[in-house]
Amino acid sequence: MNTPLHAYRASLLYFTNDPAFDEHATRWHSDGLLLVQDGKIRAAGDYAELSASLPPEAVTEDLRGKILCPGFIDTHVHYPQTDIIGSPAPGLLPWLDNYTFPAERRFQQPEHAAEVADFFLAELLRNGTTSAAVYCTVHPQSVDAFFAASHARNLRMVAGKCLMDRHAPDFLRDTAESGVRESEALIGRWHNKGRQHYAITVRFAPTSTHEQMKLAGELAAQYPDTYIQTHVAENTDEVKWVKELYPDARSYLDVYDGYGLMRQRALYAHCIWLDDQDRARMAATQSAATLCPTSNLFLGSGLFDFARADAARLPLSVATDVGGGTSFSMLQTMNELYKVARMGGTYLPAQRMFYLATLGGARALQLEGTIGSFTPGCDADFIVLDPQATPLLARRSATTENLEEQLFALAILGDDRAVAATYSAGVRVHQR
Ligand code: GUN
Ligand code: ZN
Repeated sequence: MNTPLHAYRASLLYFTNDPAFDEHATRWHSDGLLLVQDGKIRAAGDYAELSASLPPEAVTEDLRGKILCPGFIDTHVHYPQTDIIGSPAPGLLPWLDNYTFPAERRFQQPEHAAEVADFFLAELLRNGTTSAAVYCTVHPQSVDAFFAASHARNLRMVAGKCLMDRHAPDFLRDTAESGVRESEALIGRWHNKGRQHYAITVRFAPTSTHEQMKLAGELAAQYPDTYIQTHVAENTDEVKWVKELYPDARSYLDVYDGYGLMRQRALYAHCIWLDDQDRARMAATQSAATLCPTSNLFLGSGLFDFARADAARLPLSVATDVGGGTSFSMLQTMNELYKVARMGGTYLPAQRMFYLATLGGARALQLEGTIGSFTPGCDADFIVLDPQATPLLARRSATTENLEEQLFALAILGDDRAVAATYSAGVRVHQR
C-alpha cells in the first residue's frame, strides 16, 4: 500500500552534473514543489506547474523562504574519533599516536561503540548529512554497533572495519588473515542489508603488511560491489615513510594500485601529494578523491590542488574527516574548501561546492540515481536550509542579488544552525 503523497513547497536546488564542466547543471526552482512518496522522490519542479495536478489526498507543507536540497554526503569520516575532535598535535603521525589510537582502543567494548555511534549519527543529521563513508575501528564489534544504529534509523551508510596489522599498538592490530576473515564476515552480515554498504577499509599503507594489502586486494576483487576506503598522500612525513616501507612502488598511490585497490567505489582521502601520473590513474580507474579541507588545515597537511585535479578530470567529493577534521558541518567544510582552492589560485563557485557535497558525493559512491539528487526515484534524503538561521545570515541574505550569492553566504556563514530539518527516506529525522 502506498503512503500518502507529501508535497513540500519551497525553493529547490539540485544538480544534474558538475557545474564546472556543464553550464546547465544547476536545477533551481525559486517557488518549487518537491513530491515524495514511499520514501522516494516522485517529482521536483515549479509549484505553478506541479500543484495543478496534485491529488486531493496529498499532504502539503508550506516551507516558503527555505531552500530544499539533497542531503549532504560526507565521503570520509571516522565515527570513533567523535570524542577527540579538536585535539592538538604538531601533525598527523603524533596526532594518531597521542589521541586517535587511545580513543579507538575503547571500541572493543560494544556498549561504548553503540553509545558513540548513536551520538555520531544524530550529529550527522543535525548537520544535514544523510549519507557518509565511515571508518570504524579494527574491532568488528565497532562495525556491528555502527551498522545496527544506522539500520535502525534507516540511513544509507557505507562503513567498514580498519585493516591494520603493523605499526600500531597491539591493542589495535589484527593479522593479515584475521582482518580479511572478519571483513568477509561483516560483508555477509551487513553489505546491502537495507541501506547499509560495506567498505573494505585499509587504514593506510603504513599500517598494513604486504600480506594484508594483498589479501585486501583479493577481497575487493571477490566482492566487486563493495567499497574500498583508505588514506593517501596526506602528509609529507607519511609520504616519506611509505617510500621507505614500499621502495619498489612508483608513488604512494601506486602502492594501492599494485594490490588491485583502485577501481570504481574506491575512495581515496586527501590526495594532496599526488603527481600527474597518479591523477591520471585515479581518473582512469574512476577512483574518487575525498577532499578534507578542515582536517588538512588543522593538521597542517597541505592544500589540495584543484587546478591539476580538474585538468585530469579526477572524480571529486568532499568530506569532514572528523576527528582530524574540525566540524561535522558540510557548510563549514565548504567554507574551508573555498579558501583552500583560493590559496591555490582556483575560484570555487558556491554552486560547485553544493554539487560536490551532494551529487559529487553520490557519484564518488557510484550511487547516482539513488542519492544526492531530486531526480524521480531517488531516495527522499533531503534537507531544509534556512537562509535566515542567524541574525548575520539573515542580514546578508536580505541583500544577496542572485542564487550564487545566496548559496555562497550559506556556505561561508552557515553551519548546523542553517539546517532547519533533515529527512531520510521521506521521514523527518531532525528538526531544529
Ligand atoms: N591516516 C591514517 N589514519 C588516519 C586517521 O585516522 N585520520 C587521518 N586524517 N589520517 C589518517
Ligand atoms: Zn581520515
